Amino acid sequence: MLSYQHAYHAGNLADLHKHALLAWMLAYLAAKPKPLSYLETHAGRGLYDLAAPEAEKTGEADAGITRALAENWLAADHPLRLALETVRARHGATAYPGSPLIARHFLRPGDVAHLAELHPAEHQALAEVAGFAHLHRQDGFQMAQALCPPAPRRGLLLIDPSYEVKADYEAIPRHIAKLARKWNVGVIALWYPILADSRHAPMVEALRRDHAQALISEVRFPPARPGHGMVGSGMAVLNPPYGLEAEARRIAALF
Ligand SMILES: C[S@@+](CC[C@H](N)C(=O)[O-])C[C@H]1O[C@@H](n2cnc3c(N)ncnc32)[C@H](O)[C@@H]1O
Repeated sequence: MLSYQHAYHAGNLADLHKHALLAWMLAYLAAKPKPLSYLETHAGRGLYDLAAPEAEKTGEADAGITRALAENWLAADHPLRLALETVRARHGATAYPGSPLIARHFLRPGDVAHLAELHPAEHQALAEVAGFAHLHRQDGFQMAQALCPPAPRRGLLLIDPSYEVKADYEAIPRHIAKLARKWNVGVIALWYPILADSRHAPMVEALRRDHAQALISEVRFPPARPGHGMVGSGMAVLNPPYGLEAEARRIAALF
């Protein structure tokens, strides 16, 4: 049933937007000496190789992380750059961290991570690099509903679906409303594609209506291929950490 594989898209402009904000938030949360929980509903395989056939086939990272590094979009001390350097020092110069390995860079002893990944091969690959986390081979929303509020109560939930199931767009605002009621202090971040046909728009409207204080960060970019439906990237963040809005504005200005 599941056909999406993030290896074709790792390090593209959408990843750059999502991972820059994620790394910034994790660095902020980890700067305080209080334990935190990191939960992720759709973890992927955790580690990608930009020289792998899948990544080379689309070449999407060329316009994303490769260009961002060449043009210094990320300062030397930017949290995403620090996480990337750690992963490249360990796994080689063409490695690119998925969100779980970005999280691992910031998590400390005493912090707790729970990652859900449903695809058998992706789950198996994740298990090879995510020994630091509790892994769940189950629907990510079910995992999040079961664990929230997590212990420790302070922390972040990343929701990064592949949107293969069209019903996701309708269901996500309901999932998030329920999670936010259960975990009212949690930072809850949802990534979504900005689509040329505006399929994402009713979902974003519902999120804005239900969570007036949420930060919505959107960037636009040319489609990866002519006719490709994704023309931008969005992140909705409930309980955004102080300073995230300024960082989101700074990142958006680069696109
Ligand atoms: C966009 S990718 C995740 C990328 C990852 N968050 C990152 O930034 O590195 C989405 C992943 O969700 C997985 N997936 C799809 N449906 C799922 C579900 N219902 N529960 C958990 N994982 C699911 C897919 O197999 C895929 O690996």
